[in-house]
Amino acid sequence: MSELVISKVDKRFGKTVALDDVSLRIKSGEFICLLGSSGCGKTTLLRIIAGLEQSDSGELQLDGESLTRLASHKRNIGMVFQSLALFPHLNVSRNIAYGLKMRGVDAETTKTRVEELLKLTGLTGFGARAVTSLSGGQKQRVAIARALALEPRLFLMDEPFSALDAGLRDHLQQEVKKLQKQLGVTTIFVTHDQSEAMALADRIVILNNGKIEQAGSPKEVYQQPSSRFVAEFIGANNLFDVTIESGAVRFKEYNLGSSIVIGTDLRGTQTLTVRPETITLLPPGNSSGNSRGNSSGNSGAFLQGAVVMQRTIGALIEHDIDIDGHLIKQTMLQNNDYEVSVGDTVGLSWDWSQAWFLPGESG
Ligand SMILES: Nc1ncnc2c1ncn2[C@@H]1O[C@H](COP(=O)(O)OP(=O)(O)OP(=O)(O)O)[C@@H](O)[C@H]1O
Ligand SMILES: [Mg+2]
Repeated sequence: MSELVISKVDKRFGKTVALDDVSLRIKSGEFICLLGSSGCGKTTLLRIIAGLEQSDSGELQLDGESLTRLASHKRNIGMVFQSLALFPHLNVSRNIAYGLKMRGVDAETTKTRVEELLKLTGLTGFGARAVTSLSGGQKQRVAIARALALEPRLFLMDEPFSALDAGLRDHLQQEVKKLQKQLGVTTIFVTHDQSEAMALADRIVILNNGKIEQAGSPKEVYQQPSSRFVAEFIGANNLFDVTIESGAVRFKEYNLGSSIVIGTDLRGTQTLTVRPETITLLPPGNSSGNSRGNSSGNSGAFLQGAVVMQRTIGALIEHDIDIDGHLIKQTMLQNNDYEVSVGDTVGLSWDWSQAWFLPGESG
């Protein structure tokens, strides 16, 4: 169990800023997912933690001990790379035992430890197999077992499942999550796949252009994004420019007759974010004010538009609703009472307690 503190880490490659003032405290036993699009600095941060790359400034501390001058091989960090980097000329057991051998662990202890790891990763009986004869998922398991062999203080994984098909990826995600909880090893898992991060993380750290945008539980980053970037990056979202005065919301882009009283303490220019699944579609005209809006609060539709796209994905139906040339995304369950078709005019309503405001305009 180990706590990692990252303080003010910067890293440039020539003119490219790979990491910009990154600070993060990772609790002992925590499962962190570093999430961000290609080139945002995920691998660079992982490599700096592992000691494979030097930061330009800033500090790392593992359990209060500075890592800055500690060589990579002395940090006792287990790492699984996207490319796995298994040794093709060694069988499964020897791959797993590699680190133990380098450290001079005796043959008997190594044998016992390798058996344990094979069992832990669901590879019992595979020890003598050539790694080249294994499936993609089995190779991943060998890489994980090898990284865990020395009971690392930190377990780092860089997009380990990105090359696997969806079914196998789901399966291995569940296995890794279980294994991590069982071992209690502090873990940083890099991914650009938000559903993978949602499924695995205790806390998701969203990186954008080398900066941390937000660090929070999957629920927090989804329901309470701290920036417009996060609001749009995690899941689908609808952003509206609004102004709030005396607890009433006025949409800037839509010709609503009046503002909508929601009783908030917020004021001024705000970006309203509304998740597609929190929007309810209603028959047109089902509003308590005029057909384009009402001033009475939460009942009835406050916007009206035309359904321009409908798509069924499993149990969900997705809609695009055109309102004055703006497309609003809406999702609902298939067994919804109110069925709509492309071309229909519909009213839109949502539960204001699930809406989220960010200061300033959506830009
Ligand atoms: N050795 C290097 N030399 C020059 N530039 C580099 C080097 N390593 C990384 N970079 C640059 O630093 C930035 C961050 O790279 P990094 O590999 O950390 O991104 P990433 O988030 O892991 O992306 P991906 O999802 O594509 O793996 C990128 O602009 C990249 O081109
Ligand atoms: Mg990378």
